[in-house]
Amino acid sequence: MHDDTTYITELILKASEKARKETGRVKAEQILSKPVRWPVDCTVGPGLEGAIACQTRIGYVDGSRGLLVYRGYDILDLCAHSTFEEVSYLLMLGHLPQPKQLEGFKNRLARYRRVPETLRQLMSVPVQDMHTMAALRLGTNLMRREFSYVDQEAAKPDIADAISSDEDSIPMETVPNGEERAIYEFKRDKGPIRPKPKKIEPSLDDASSQDSCYHLISGVATITAAIARIRDKRMPLEPDLELSHAGNFLYMMTGRKPTPEEERIMDIMLILHADHGMNASTFATMVVASTLSDLYFSVGSGIAALSGPLHGGANEQVLRTLKEIKGKDNVTEWFKKARARKQKIMGFGHRVYKTYDPRARVLGPLAHILAKRNKEVWPLFQTARALEKQVVSSLGDEKGIFPNVDFYSGLVYSSMNIPDAMFTPIFAVSRVAGWTARVMEYLRTNRIFRPRAMYVGQLDRAYVSIHKRGAKRPGKPRK
Ligand code: CMC
Repeated sequence: MHDDTTYITELILKASEKARKETGRVKAEQILSKPVRWPVDCTVGPGLEGAIACQTRIGYVDGSRGLLVYRGYDILDLCAHSTFEEVSYLLMLGHLPQPKQLEGFKNRLARYRRVPETLRQLMSVPVQDMHTMAALRLGTNLMRREFSYVDQEAAKPDIADAISSDEDSIPMETVPNGEERAIYEFKRDKGPIRPKPKKIEPSLDDASSQDSCYHLISGVATITAAIARIRDKRMPLEPDLELSHAGNFLYMMTGRKPTPEEERIMDIMLILHADHGMNASTFATMVVASTLSDLYFSVGSGIAALSGPLHGGANEQVLRTLKEIKGKDNVTEWFKKARARKQKIMGFGHRVYKTYDPRARVLGPLAHILAKRNKEVWPLFQTARALEKQVVSSLGDEKGIFPNVDFYSGLVYSSMNIPDAMFTPIFAVSRVAGWTARVMEYLRTNRIFRPRAMYVGQLDRAYVSIHKRGAKRPGKPRK
């Protein structure tokens, strides 16, 4: 890995220039610049396609032009010039920070990196055998217990008991696998990090607590890094508070301080995945928050939704596909068979974009440079390029199917020697910034989400007691 990262900025600016040239003449989608006057007219398709669920100032996706905007800023500009901390600030607070504001924000995030009780509890379950997203979801649930006080006092377990009962099973005092500094110190600093609120009933304040946002943005990274280490038979590491969010995340996963290049690449990955309109996981997060449940439960739902292969789980599936194809020369044959089976090709297509996903415009060239240096990843990259050509030439114009963010992200991570099972949790490390920002915004004017389904079943059936039901035609409609 190199120390000089200017080539990465140049690569992003080039991708941005190309995007502007290619899509400059495409008409922008109509956006509402005025507050919505409910009810709004919209045409709704299955899967809530086209439905307008709320108004927002956080982010916007123009699917015709392939434009992604956070708070008015083009994602490619943010990617070239910003950092994940600055972008999280922007998403949450609505404007780019002054230097002092950013410093304060970073310090606050860094303070919440330690989640000792959560990790202690997490290590008492067989994380190494779990799906990484299941482990992450469990981790956020444990964080809720560590940091949230919305539960009744009586319902809270006695932490002292929990610790003593776990002591036998957790090798806290050992230095595993010859690591020099591999022990997460399970100690509490000075009492609870978040002061206990006076009220203990669930309330809007609890649900929208800014502190919980900070906890979650930092904590999801710490838990993800811990999961990576546990799977690798290593102990979780103490965070390094001097490092950036991306740098510390890499350090906590690998136990090695990242090079400036590695840190910059991870930072870019986090910026690119931080927010993306009303995608399934964001919507899931908001639905749960809209019931005035709390932010930890909400984020847990987001993680569950993100894990699916049609959403964030696609990044891991892409690598599976590329390995299955076994070389660029087999792409044509593989694609033919996949089309015949009507198989969806992972990492392609999008509900909103009908052109290139702007995130893929950065990730493709980045994966190219990184894969070239990695003997194992290079053949996979070549397969990916050949597959992209095939898919775009046969489905691009016809159906608006192009590579999405998940197509090249796994190749970038693989080039950094990050295991496939960690790709989707890393997506969550970033998206938690968007989830929390959107929940905070929505709760200001909260209304519970409650759409309806179009009932197409029968009505007016007469109940027949179990011993009178015939085997052939149970529950025949009443005439
Ligand atoms: N490969 C082949 N055909 C596709 C693909 C694909 N990846 N995606 C859509 N199509 C076809 C689909 O078969 C359908 O064709 P037809 O009209 O002939 O039946 C048409 O395009 C519309 O597809 P759809 O499934 O109705 O589209 P959708 O808006 O409901 O789904 C999607 C969007 C992202 C779930 C879908 O494109 C897909 O399954 N892609 C593969 C999974 C993937 O890469 N997901 C990551 C999405 S981006 C990042 C994220 O949100 O996590």
